[in-house]
Amino acid sequence: THCFTKQEDGYLYVEKTKVEEIMEVVEKRPFYLYSKPQITRNVEAYKEALEGLDNSVIGYAIKANNNFLILNHLRSLGCGAVLVSGNELRLALKAGFDPTRCIFNGNGKLLEDLVLAAQEGVFVNIDSEFDLDNIVAAARIAGKRVNVLLRINPDVDPQVHPYVATGNKNSKFGIRNEKLQWFLDQVKSYPDELKLVGAHCHLGSTITKVDIFRDAAEIMVKFIDEIRAQGFDISYLNIGGGLGIDYYHTGTVLPTPRDLIDTVRDLVKSRNLNLIIEPGRSLIANTCCLVNRVTGVKTNGTKNFIVIDGSMAELIRPSLYDAYQHIELVSPSPPDATISTFDVVGPVCESADFLGKNRELPAPARGSGLVVHDAGAYCMSMASTYNLKMRPPEYWVEEDGSVSKIRHGETFEDHMRYFEGLMI
Ligand code: LLP
Repeated sequence: THCFTKQEDGYLYVEKTKVEEIMEVVEKRPFYLYSKPQITRNVEAYKEALEGLDNSVIGYAIKANNNFLILNHLRSLGCGAVLVSGNELRLALKAGFDPTRCIFNGNGKLLEDLVLAAQEGVFVNIDSEFDLDNIVAAARIAGKRVNVLLRINPDVDPQVHPYVATGNKNSKFGIRNEKLQWFLDQVKSYPDELKLVGAHCHLGSTITKVDIFRDAAEIMVKFIDEIRAQGFDISYLNIGGGLGIDYYHTGTVLPTPRDLIDTVRDLVKSRNLNLIIEPGRSLIANTCCLVNRVTGVKTNGTKNFIVIDGSMAELIRPSLYDAYQHIELVSPSPPDATISTFDVVGPVCESADFLGKNRELPAPARGSGLVVHDAGAYCMSMASTYNLKMRPPEYWVEEDGSVSKIRHGETFEDHMRYFEGLMI
């Protein structure tokens, strides 16, 4: 189900509001538009899926979308948070996330950030030999024992784009599994600094087959059995994030959070484990569109182009991963409009600046609205200021249909402030 839908009148709606009406009342620049009720529904789907699994944690992967109001909303719905930088940790704390439901991940965590994590009682994943050293040092500085998980690579192929595959044995993340014993011995030798509480893995992102999670979980519980056999009282299995979403809008039925949880449920129960999951995309991607305006239409060689005001600066996934995100016009076209094949491109000076290729669309009028769907995850959080495009404002529609701004758009004045007080 999608919260942005074309109704019979030919207009695109978000929940019960016409997107075109929203375009008329907000700033005239590309903007991200979210449905707050859809965020709630997505969290509820995970919560329902986890029923019967006590003490499980939904650790929302903040990297997917770090809007502060969205974080507050997710926290109020009971989510924990997954962090990959000191600033994400600081933001999660500001948003009021319970630190004992937060997990600090990463292959290059810095000592100063680990100290903060230790002080706050955040779970920390051990990623390598040097990472273990830093966690021990941070525990000493903070004067706190740190709850740690070992990040293991189950080496299961997630069948996704190589840039978003992470759980294979040649990955830059996680420990070498052959060295498991070494890590266990180290943990044992630092009883005042480290408390091993679980094992973690993350396979990759945009995964659309739950068997992959099942295979990984089977491998992970074997590791957990091995670790427990050495007297470690560990209780957490963290299976990471990675569930894909329906980017193609073709009606294909994809696995739901329930399918994901059900495929590992018996393993978790049989070992009496607490399950941690780390969804990013499947919580937030489908709650949002990037709303753009058509600047004009042109043809060169054999190609037709729709040029819009949004670009790879606001939304880089198509350029970076060749990702497909569905594109639609927000208002109806005349019934006799001819449909052509267009590349939808931005104004950035790069041939890689496209939002979609070979899309069948009626030629849109200048100034009309065009949305890129499923833009809630890894879009605003990956936006840049390339070509001095400024990061867009964000709005959401609430349950009662009202629209409010949830982040200011960056301005040229903001940009000039970075140079204030410097010698010019
Ligand atoms: N946990 C860990 C350890 C991760 O590395 C990630 C994502 C997640 C959880 C959340 O995964 P999700 O449920 O969102 O798939 N920028 C790329 C995606 C990068 C994902 C990185 N890791 C994209 O736009 O497709």
